[in-house]
Amino acid sequence: NDIKKIAVLKGDYIGPEIMAAGLAVLKAATDSQQFKYELIDLPFGGDGIDRAGDPLPQSTIDQAKQADAILLSAIGGPKWDQAPRRPEQGLLEIRAALNLFANIRPTKITDRQVDRSPLKKAYVTGTDFVIVRELTSGAYFGKPRELQAHQAIDTMYYNESEVVRIMHEGFKMAQKRRHHVTIVDKSNVLATSKFWRNIAKEIAPQYPDVMVDYYYVDAMTMAIMSKPTAFDVIITPNLFGDILSDEAAQITGSIGQIPSMSVGSEGPNLYEPIHGSAPDIAGKGIANPISMVNTVAMMLSESFGEKAIAEKIYRAVDAVIDQGDVTPDMGGDLSTEAVTQKMIMHIQSDETVTIS
Ligand code: NAD
Ligand code: IPM
Ligand code: MN
Repeated sequence: NDIKKIAVLKGDYIGPEIMAAGLAVLKAATDSQQFKYELIDLPFGGDGIDRAGDPLPQSTIDQAKQADAILLSAIGGPKWDQAPRRPEQGLLEIRAALNLFANIRPTKITDRQVDRSPLKKAYVTGTDFVIVRELTSGAYFGKPRELQAHQAIDTMYYNESEVVRIMHEGFKMAQKRRHHVTIVDKSNVLATSKFWRNIAKEIAPQYPDVMVDYYYVDAMTMAIMSKPTAFDVIITPNLFGDILSDEAAQITGSIGQIPSMSVGSEGPNLYEPIHGSAPDIAGKGIANPISMVNTVAMMLSESFGEKAIAEKIYRAVDAVIDQGDVTPDMGGDLSTEAVTQKMIMHIQSDETVTIS
């Protein structure tokens, strides 16, 4: 009776390829369950430019706000790089329009994944941290921003409420995890980072059960690689979070596995893989669908409370990784579709096990 509305922004280049995979898994995992949903296809990104003349049509904002969750694939690519309003602009604007100020990017390596990491097993075993990336301010949004013939300006800006709310988001998350927060900034140089760290120090005592440490972002790029198991919740500004999360993805062996969730104070969450539209492999049928499948599972768990269905999907992901039924980015030789079919098979046999 209660039908959940899922806004689907299918993306560009590999976007639609992995979205199809994610939706096929969503269907398979929910077929025999009470969970009912309806998909609402909205033009966005390059697809928005092609279908509706803009990367973020007003109707897409309006309908996304009405949805119970937003599922987004990757956008952008060379086709629209010269457009007056690029797909990436639409992405920044939808984050702002929905006030999605916190972006949660997990890096978790299961025992079955450790052998696929480019790092030594002893270093990566047990890695399980989340990057809490501030998403609607900082260097991405500060004014002035100008590109002129002989100079260019970006502005890194934060105000107090923007920093306070992302800190609380991260500290609260740590209380549900391993009670450890790492603040990452560049407070030895940048004013916004000094501000960031000062506020962190003011807020930390409100969470006496949470251990806090502080890193400069340059040192953090090393620490993420040399001791990834030392972290739990990493709270960092927009630009640093963008960079650190791509780096962190490498620990797992491929960025093609990593989901994310963007949350605000009200309205639907937005779920998207952290990677881009991978124009270099688009159309070849070899994009890794796991990022989108994990994104779907995250949505089921976090927006709809469907933890059991999400767990079933995670088990199917584990199973294909375990059996080496993966795409080339993970050292396999299967297509996007073949990996997806394998996952669906695992979901269906999981079903028979739980029923009998
Ligand atoms: P990218 O993340 O698209 O690709 C980086 C590398 O990772 C490429 O070698 C690519 O083949 C690989 N890769 C990414 N996802 C993969 C997957 N699912 N399976 C297998 N391999 C995968 O980054 P880029 O090349 O710098 O950017 C391409 C376009 O995507 C640009 O237009 C960029 O602005 C856009 N972008 C969009 C998002 C988003 O929609 N959230 C995120 C990042 C980049
Ligand atoms: C991401 C992407 C975006 C960002 C781009 C495409 C605007 O890299 O989601 O990580 O930098 O936030
Ligand atoms: Mn990025």
